[in-house]
Amino acid sequence: MRSMPHLIESKISGNDEVAPGHFVLKVESSELASLVQPGQFAQIKCGDEKDIILRRPLSFYKIEGKTLFFLYKVIGKGTGILKMRSPGEDISILGPLGRGFWFSDSMANGKKKIIIAGGVGIAPFPFLISEMISKAKINPGDIVLIYGAKKKEFLIGLDEFRKTGISLYPSTDDGSEGFKGTTAELLSKLCKEGGLKGGDYFGCGPGIMMKGIVEITKKWGERVQVSLEERMGCGVGACLSCVKKINGKYLRICTDGPVFWGDEVEW
Ligand SMILES: Cc1cc2nc3c(=O)[nH]c(=O)nc-3n(C[C@H](O)[C@H](O)[C@H](O)COP(=O)(O)OP(=O)(O)OC[C@H]3O[C@@H](n4cnc5c(N)ncnc54)[C@H](O)[C@@H]3O)c2cc1C
Ligand code: FES
Repeated sequence: MRSMPHLIESKISGNDEVAPGHFVLKVESSELASLVQPGQFAQIKCGDEKDIILRRPLSFYKIEGKTLFFLYKVIGKGTGILKMRSPGEDISILGPLGRGFWFSDSMANGKKKIIIAGGVGIAPFPFLISEMISKAKINPGDIVLIYGAKKKEFLIGLDEFRKTGISLYPSTDDGSEGFKGTTAELLSKLCKEGGLKGGDYFGCGPGIMMKGIVEITKKWGERVQVSLEERMGCGVGACLSCVKKINGKYLRICTDGPVFWGDEVEW
């Protein structure tokens, strides 16, 4: 059951660089923390109205008590303003928004949960993994995370993932950590070595990576839930700027998604 979005005026409690050009924003809100589901996102007001009007969409990265965490990569104006913000400053957040990943305790069935993340596409997964373990009672040993980035320094939170007891397979384009190559190549390799076919699949990352993963899993007769990124205006279904063709219909990424079945997306 999705909650109605709330407009929260809160305080920043942290905004630290965790990898070159990547920051973790922390905001306090017990109200939002109790409502969010993994894969949902918030529309963040990055700065003053005189500097920037449109809010920017960011996934919920982690929730700890009443603290909301957002992992973001600095791209342009909005995230460029956001990275300058300091603890103690006010911030306005609209959320939770969208339809997140589908998972339930019926998935605690010994089948592998295979998560594939590329770059900042890792953002929704620490929260998903934590909810899979704590709420759906999925054995951490049944969760597999394939996480790729350009190089080692952009793989964020590896030690934290290791502490959860999940199986972690990093990959880098330059081979500085884990497998040298793409996440799609690593997925195929792990599958050939045995064990990864016949699971529940979840993905988030660049479009080309998602398309590759959908093609691979389709060959095995499997489906993958993917979180899509599209340029957004309102984030609440009103402006139609985020529309994409899915299963023959034009759907809004912000309210009908951002998570969809990958085989239904017209890539
Ligand atoms: C549902 C959803 C969840 C997201 N979660 C995260 C996250 O957790 N961490 C993260 O780093 N990024 C995330 N993104 C992408 C993030 O919203 C953009 O990188 C960000 O809006 C860029 O804003 P900017 O002003 O810095 O860049 P600019 O290029 O100056 O932005 C100009 C406009 O384009 C939009 N835009 C630019 N790039 C993207 C993009 N890739 N996706 C959507 N809109 C874009 C902006 O929102 C803005 O309206 C998410 C996007 C969506 C749709
Ligand atoms: S962003 Fe306005 S309808 Fe989706």
